[in-house]
Amino acid sequence: LDTSESGRFDVTAQSGTTSFIGGRATPTIGFNQPYLGPVVRVQKGPLQPKVANALSWPVSSHWHGLLVPGEHDGGPHLPIGPGSNWTPDMQIDQPPCTAFFHTHIHGRTAQDVYAGLAGVIHIVDGHDAERGLPETYGTDDLTLVIQDRRFAGDGRLAYANSMMDIMHGMTGDTILVNGQIGTAAHVPKGIVRLRIVNASNARIYSLRLSDSRPMHLIATDGGYLARPIALETLRMGPGERAEILVDFTSGHDVSLVSDGDPNQGMGGMMGRARGMLDGLTGARRFEVLPILVDERLPVAVDRIPDTIGGKAPSLADFEIAKTRRFSLDMGMGGGMMGGFAINGDPFEMAVVNQRVRLGDTEKWVVSTTMLAHPFHVHGVSFQVVRENGRDPLPESSGWKDTVVIDGETELLMRFTQPAGDRTPFMYHCHILEHEDGGMMGQFTVT
Ligand code: C2O
Ligand code: CU
Ligand code: CU
Repeated sequence: LDTSESGRFDVTAQSGTTSFIGGRATPTIGFNQPYLGPVVRVQKGPLQPKVANALSWPVSSHWHGLLVPGEHDGGPHLPIGPGSNWTPDMQIDQPPCTAFFHTHIHGRTAQDVYAGLAGVIHIVDGHDAERGLPETYGTDDLTLVIQDRRFAGDGRLAYANSMMDIMHGMTGDTILVNGQIGTAAHVPKGIVRLRIVNASNARIYSLRLSDSRPMHLIATDGGYLARPIALETLRMGPGERAEILVDFTSGHDVSLVSDGDPNQGMGGMMGRARGMLDGLTGARRFEVLPILVDERLPVAVDRIPDTIGGKAPSLADFEIAKTRRFSLDMGMGGGMMGGFAINGDPFEMAVVNQRVRLGDTEKWVVSTTMLAHPFHVHGVSFQVVRENGRDPLPESSGWKDTVVIDGETELLMRFTQPAGDRTPFMYHCHILEHEDGGMMGQFTVT
């Protein structure tokens, strides 16, 4: 959906069926279509969506990655009832980036996103050609929504059948790219841009190209880097986005592949006995998407640019008004499913956990003791200053809103968007089963 003229677009949450596997109808949900939603192209200025709900239960539309006030954020305090709609009146004023939107109703985010209720947002400014970046949507600028799913014998999506699916998060044995199994991308014999969205519930990917050619990282969650960084592997947790350039001037096809998920590796024995890890997880590498060169497609860019001109995060220069610590907790029992909490407190709709002053810069120190958790904060872009006791990974060196915590990580963030008590912002683990289970907190910015 191109909103660049008016800033208006309409999406409707609806149910339908999708034929993922030949001849089987899988019940799914999506925005404007049976599974997933449209890519919405947005420019600076007014953005006035109308989000309607044609389902029989409440949904919301959280703009993950948009810097908008709490009242427009689409989190758990902004449910859209069956047959109702929601019309936030937003102003977009942030650099170009790849963001996404998904339902965020507490306690059912995981199952509804799993069933398909998510879409993609591109913030664009019309200057990508000057930056030397491919920008032709669907030709040399491809959007890849990566998800893993498990199917039951009758073609239905299998969801959370075991304690392990909740404890480690729901992973699948089948990769979907843009809602399709076994698809391939066709690209010109030039430089190609991939906008990758990890919209999986729980899986952490370590992406690479099958012939080890570099992935030139140009953007992280919050926008462009100052210059491309050549990577061999790109780690992406749920909720993270990355844009890479891949050089196809040689004319050689390649496969986007991933190594196993570190969280699932720990589940080793149980998972393997049930067959769910087989072929897709553990230490094994699996294919995500074959990318094939089609010489008939027009080549717009034939070299990797030296600079892109994004503004590197520089919050270290600001005075830190406050340091807060967060421990991402899981317990093993006590009757609580998973015992998910932050600083010992499971999420409560009525409890504001933190109060931040508008305009302040703060340091958030986030740690985990069990499993790796993709930590996401609403309403800000942050800078990673220490990552699990080391300098940030290259994929964490730009502006971020979600980062995998696998130890202790320090984040700097400057709060520019207000959020009051009625619609506070969330911070949470983006393994959606953990989030629904209580590994989430909320904060006001006033
Ligand atoms: Cu993408 Cu609070 O989530
Ligand atoms: Cu978000
Ligand atoms: Cu988690």
